[in-house]
Amino acid sequence: MAHLWSGRFEGDPDAALVEFGRSFGFDRRLFEDDVRGSMAWAAALERAGVLTGRDAAAIQSGLRDLLSDRVRESFFDSPAAAADEDVHAFVERELVARIGEAGRRLHTGRSRNEQIAVDLRLYLKRRIPELQDDIVSLVGVLAGAADSAGQALMPSYTHLRRAQPILAAHFFLAHAAAFRRDHARFSGLLNDADELPLGSGAIAGTSYAIDVDALAKELGFSRIVRNSIDATGDRDIVATFLYASALAMVHLSRLAEDVILFTSEEFGFFELADTAATGSSLMPQKKNPDPMELVRGKAGRVIGRLTGWLATMKGLPIGYSKDLQEDKEALFEAEDTLRASLAATASVVKGLAVNAVAAGRAASGLLLATDVADYLVEKGVAFRDAHAVVGALVLRLVREGRSFDDLTIEEWRSHSPLFDPDVRTAITAAASVAKKRTPQSTHPDAVAASLAELQTWLATQR
Ligand code: ARG
Repeated sequence: MAHLWSGRFEGDPDAALVEFGRSFGFDRRLFEDDVRGSMAWAAALERAGVLTGRDAAAIQSGLRDLLSDRVRESFFDSPAAAADEDVHAFVERELVARIGEAGRRLHTGRSRNEQIAVDLRLYLKRRIPELQDDIVSLVGVLAGAADSAGQALMPSYTHLRRAQPILAAHFFLAHAAAFRRDHARFSGLLNDADELPLGSGAIAGTSYAIDVDALAKELGFSRIVRNSIDATGDRDIVATFLYASALAMVHLSRLAEDVILFTSEEFGFFELADTAATGSSLMPQKKNPDPMELVRGKAGRVIGRLTGWLATMKGLPIGYSKDLQEDKEALFEAEDTLRASLAATASVVKGLAVNAVAAGRAASGLLLATDVADYLVEKGVAFRDAHAVVGALVLRLVREGRSFDDLTIEEWRSHSPLFDPDVRTAITAAASVAKKRTPQSTHPDAVAASLAELQTWLATQR
């Protein structure tokens, strides 16, 4: 059996070890990118006077045929392909099978080390925009949920204890804000990936007169890598992709956790659509949020891929080592997991209904304590003193199992003479949100403005 490198050996490699080293089972996903890179490389060799016009033309047409043959179901599964080491070997063998001798000149001045580097960059430049579209779809669903929540109130939580009233819309927009950062992070990665590594050779550069600027232009890269040694052993873009994906999964997991909690009997602020829930084989009453639990669970895998990949890279000497082949399964699994989780989450959130009565009920009560303190501050009391007065009042109410709304004016006044009768109507959840002033706050106008800003952003993404 001939490998791309068999000439140097007297005997065949051990079959099990060949199998152990093969990456064609998964790097076939880079097929289109590999062919594109090869087309551009053949053109660069021709411009450099290395390939005749005839050979270059034969290579281009052979590669084009390969791209169109790709649609065949069994394309990757021919008996010959079963022995290909990786996608680069596959493409070269298929090309030679189609055009003969000229195909054997394509690899002149080039190494698989730079080929895989360019393939990964082309792949990310092609796939990240699709992933970003999935993020945009989820953000669109969150914007829709914010819109339909209207003026519904709910409690916010810190330390998972009731904190202050908010608009339910503000809650949905909070999650949207995190996913917009994810979107921007992937845009940053697109910029990182925008460097042409070809011309680096195996490590030291190439001895042929390759016009790398023209090659970059042809492949849509705006810059050339700085250093051939670094370029052939650098997988920062994979690490960054895994980080961006892991963090997006963390954001999905936190949203999933909120949905799981807030749709439970204990909270009951939102209701899951029947289409987004599952039942129990034993307990007839159950309506379980399985898809959200899976999203929360799958975040662990992607975090694992990130930490695993960092561990793989940390001991490597500069330049290419075969360890780097491990990048692809990490990258593809993270990508698939993230995209599936974005879609599942969008579908669940789309079906959420806000239970404005239950959520609003939970938004009143002792979580209005800050508003009571602010009431005293407005009458001139120092905030720290107001905090102490209201703290004592809360302590009493907790002991008596009561809340602000059933205090008589005499009882209010027994805690401070500054409480006027209007306190009995001033302290409500709706008044609390209406008192907020800053643009990032839960004031209904601020929330409406940020929803409008989000919708403008969404419109520019489609
Ligand atoms: N399959 C290899 C990888 O993914 C391609 C580069 C191989 N280079 C080499 N010298 N073996 O990393």
